[in-house]
Amino acid sequence: MSLRDGGVIRDGYHADVDELRKANTEGKHWIAALEAKERERTGIESLKVRYNQVFGYYIEITKTNLARVPADFIRKQTLVNAERFMTPELKELEERVTGAEVKLLALEQDLFAQLRTTLAGHAGRLQEMAGKLALIDVLAGLAETAALNQYTKPVINESGLIDIRGGRHPVVERLTEEMAFVPNDTLLNLDSHRLQILTGPNMAGKSTFLRQVALIVLLAQIGSFVPATAATIGVVDRIFTRVGASDNLASGHSTFMVEMVETATILHSATVRSLILLDEIGRGTSTYDGLSIAWAVAEYIHDRRTLGSRTLFATHYHEMTQLEQQRDGIKNFRVAVQERDGDVVFLRKIVAGGADRSYGIYVAKLAGLPQSVITRAQDVLVQLERPESAQIAESVTTHTEPAAAPLPQPHPLVEEVRQIDLFSMTPLDALNRLADLQRKVTPSSKDAAF
Ligand SMILES: Nc1ncnc2c1ncn2[C@@H]1O[C@H](COP(=O)(O)OP(=O)(O)OP(=O)(O)O)[C@@H](O)[C@H]1O
Ligand SMILES: [Mg+2]
Repeated sequence: MSLRDGGVIRDGYHADVDELRKANTEGKHWIAALEAKERERTGIESLKVRYNQVFGYYIEITKTNLARVPADFIRKQTLVNAERFMTPELKELEERVTGAEVKLLALEQDLFAQLRTTLAGHAGRLQEMAGKLALIDVLAGLAETAALNQYTKPVINESGLIDIRGGRHPVVERLTEEMAFVPNDTLLNLDSHRLQILTGPNMAGKSTFLRQVALIVLLAQIGSFVPATAATIGVVDRIFTRVGASDNLASGHSTFMVEMVETATILHSATVRSLILLDEIGRGTSTYDGLSIAWAVAEYIHDRRTLGSRTLFATHYHEMTQLEQQRDGIKNFRVAVQERDGDVVFLRKIVAGGADRSYGIYVAKLAGLPQSVITRAQDVLVQLERPESAQIAESVTTHTEPAAAPLPQPHPLVEEVRQIDLFSMTPLDALNRLADLQRKVTPSSKDAAF
């Protein structure tokens, strides 16, 4: 609604507004009545009273009926197919209607401005009221959600324990109505269960689980009930997440760079009281680079001398499950799946232990990659997984090309140069050594010594 068009003041608020509004609508009835009257008087069925911005109200008569126009019609305008006329009576009505319209609009704008000024004088009270209503609204919303979706009241303390029984993702559970959402337990503490390495196939539910734990902790700490059957939440000071891929090309950061910048922020800012969620750290680079970074980040977070924060770490680097044996406080969990006749059944259940397969190709097939790509991927995977395939690139044979050539050995001279100990040489020694090397690459040149 625009103030310029009026209609902002409700009937009954101001007597003058009501009166002008009545005159305005009644005026329009009068004009309709005039149209009917003139039709009858002239016998012209197509006679119309119309309005436009330039001429105001006028009577329009088509060319074929011009002969029947009465003498008291005053011609105003001639069109191709019609003529437009005025009568003194129409003129008078027009003044009454448009006069009321203009006055009404001015009055409405005036009243609106007054109201605004009055309200501005109470801005403080109104804002305070709005704040209180907003709080009531939020709390009522949380209460309603809790009642409708079987949330439970969490125990909140300073124990450092996060113990969630039958936890659910508050949003995903609403979207998976036919396939019931599978609840999961979580146990994190400041000691034996500090860092959870979560493995499991693509599509298994790792990311959902990470977010669900964060949301339950967040909900508990803002005073809400939580989607679980029971929950004890040892207060966290902050929740840090590194989830999903995004890039910020405009600021000069590549996808992987963004990931690393965010990881750096977490490692620099988290405390022993923080909750950290890392979803596939290190996947934006080569496998070994990524695994190395993920591994080192996990160790850094786990170590109490550096962080010791409670952490959920989802990864496809199955090698990382070895950390459980190496360090107290690291626990492996995986999302269970069942393999049945080449099909994978996602059970969505988090159980103890590590996974050793990601079923990525299976999920790629579900997603609709061309069958030839899937078949070839399976073929490449078999070759890569052979224990003797030390060099990844070399072990993959292609259909059309010969096997990759072996890596070139460094030239013996290069090795010799590398071994020169520059810091224990005099400049003269160095020159002699250089001449020596030069002689070796150009046998015919004259011996030179200094
Ligand atoms: N506990 C659950 N109960 C029912 N459905 C679930 C559950 N968890 C996840 N899902 C469903 O599975 C889908 C995939 O889950 P999610 O993205 O968490 O998998 P992921 O293990 O992170 O896979 P990826 O390794 O490919 O990232 C979700 O979109 C959701 O619909
Ligand atoms: Mg995921």
